[in-house]
Amino acid sequence: MRTGLLKHSEYLEFLTSVPTFSGLGEDLLRRIVDVMEECHFDYGDYIIRQGAIGDTFYIISKGNVEVTKRKSASSESVVIRKLAKGDWFGERALQGEDLRTANVVVEDREGATCLVIDRQSFTQLIGDLDSVKQRKYDEVPELSKKSDGFYDGLI
Ligand code: CMP
Repeated sequence: MRTGLLKHSEYLEFLTSVPTFSGLGEDLLRRIVDVMEECHFDYGDYIIRQGAIGDTFYIISKGNVEVTKRKSASSESVVIRKLAKGDWFGERALQGEDLRTANVVVEDREGATCLVIDRQSFTQLIGDLDSVKQRKYDEVPELSKKSDGFYDGLI
């Protein structure tokens, strides 16, 4: 076990409060907690870079991050989602594609803390959950919707 006993029960409680994981049995939750590693990231850090090879899955336990994406190699990244405590990301590169489909950047001045799970454990313990396997993203970026109901552009 990589985490101390106190942390272990703290994480167990936390996972139970996250809808995606709350319905899992205690046994499976304990196994997930056993393989998680807590990582802290500073304000502005790129936790994930679009186009990079990815091997890790993240659950936010503290702070806020932004998902940003660029349409082509030469275009600027635009913010498409904001994620907070209890949200998770980084599953797509572990679902066969290998390459990261977006950037994930820390937007919280205090930094952000994530519980990180490697590819092997993700595949064994999390990858088969319906809510993870079937998550679809809107092609229209939530944050580019303007007040007139039109969109700035598609991602
Ligand atoms: P992955 O491609 O591994 O790394 C970037 C992550 O950003 C991705 O997994 C998803 O978890 C997340 N992501 C990608 N596209 C979107 C989107 N349109 N909306 C919200 N999150 C996204």
